[in-house]
Amino acid sequence: MHATPVIPLRPVILVVDDTPQNLALMRDLLDGDYTVKLAPSGERALKIAQSQPLDLILLDIMMPDIDGYEVCRRLKASALTADVPVIFFTAKTQTQDEQMGFSLGAADYITKPISPPIVLARVKAHLLFKQARDALERRNREDKLRFDAALAQQVELNQLKSTFVAMTSHEFRTPLTSILVSQSLLRNYCDRLPVGERNGLLDSIESAVRRMVLMLDQVLTIGRSDAQLLSFNPKPVNLLTLCHQLRDEAVASHGQIDGETEAAHVALHAELDDKDVLADEKLLRHILGNLLSNALKYSCGASEAQFKVRRNGPGVCFEVRDQGIGIPVEDLPRLFGDFYRASNVGNIPGTGLGLAIVKRAVESHGGAIAVTSQPGDGTCFTVTIPIAAL
Ligand SMILES: Nc1ncnc2c1ncn2[C@@H]1O[C@H](COP(=O)(O)OP(=O)(O)O)[C@@H](O)[C@H]1O
Ligand SMILES: [Mg+2]
Repeated sequence: MHATPVIPLRPVILVVDDTPQNLALMRDLLDGDYTVKLAPSGERALKIAQSQPLDLILLDIMMPDIDGYEVCRRLKASALTADVPVIFFTAKTQTQDEQMGFSLGAADYITKPISPPIVLARVKAHLLFKQARDALERRNREDKLRFDAALAQQVELNQLKSTFVAMTSHEFRTPLTSILVSQSLLRNYCDRLPVGERNGLLDSIESAVRRMVLMLDQVLTIGRSDAQLLSFNPKPVNLLTLCHQLRDEAVASHGQIDGETEAAHVALHAELDDKDVLADEKLLRHILGNLLSNALKYSCGASEAQFKVRRNGPGVCFEVRDQGIGIPVEDLPRLFGDFYRASNVGNIPGTGLGLAIVKRAVESHGGAIAVTSQPGDGTCFTVTIPIAAL
């Protein structure tokens, strides 16, 4: 069953005729149900048609200057008016005139003297037809938009999949090889190895495993972030304590995961009350944990970073600054994209997922993140988050 299309509220009809009585007659006939525009010449009709949307045009053929055929030709040639149905009305009754009209794209023909019921019936029929056609075109356009969006999503997913395969095969191979080598040394030479070296091998197995677990966690977090894994769930938190914890954890895991033997140092300046605030600890851990670990990881040897926290109006401003390798300016625009790593990372391990998680977590907490960086000099990430005091 097809629903009967409904004609939109007061369709606009343009009547074109050089005889004033005919215009008056048509206006009286159509005025009740339609908005009627009148044009006494072809020239005027074309002007009106270009300046406002029309639903139908009733067009006299025999007119001085530009005749109806020419008006119709020009209407059909303009993208703006090509789809407006044109009904010719004329005293001419020969078939070749009708053929001429149809060949120019006219929708119908009405002969003069006009019969009001016939005019009304044809006008209504063509308006319904136009409306049905418009609705179909609209639906086609919407379908195409939906299809394009689905296609783009699929392409993005495929890209993500291949980047993921490339990243994992590269980034997992290193720790796995390290585990294999360490265990093989332990298996074959355990008795002959000094205790210090044995412990060193065990440590490197541990740090390789930790690094893989971290990478898997990041992949899972990104994979499920749409499924509300990074959703906002505020509870009372002592921000000062949390910042100290996060600083200590970042320093500790820098040794454990990155296998760094040189001591890392993070100077924490917290201008905060020792009171609870309402915030999402899990999101803050994602945000600050990743920024602090990056600051140490991309500092190479020096591993000195500053972590500043202060109240900022209705929120809190976190700043993580390092004097590390910095980020090339051409990498900045895509830095927060999934799997994206800057061109200067060299052998420093990573998934390119940390900042993607940070960005989602910051947005989930209603905040904003900014980065400034100077290659060779260092990097500063600033996160501003609305956090209510309790
Ligand atoms: N503090 C920083 N100093 C220099 N480069 C950084 C810093 N933080 C992030 N980056 C760059 O941004 C990229 C994306 O960071 P992230 O998503 O955490 O991935 P990764 O797992 O590589 O650390 C990194 O690969 C690195 O190129
Ligand atoms: Mg990182």
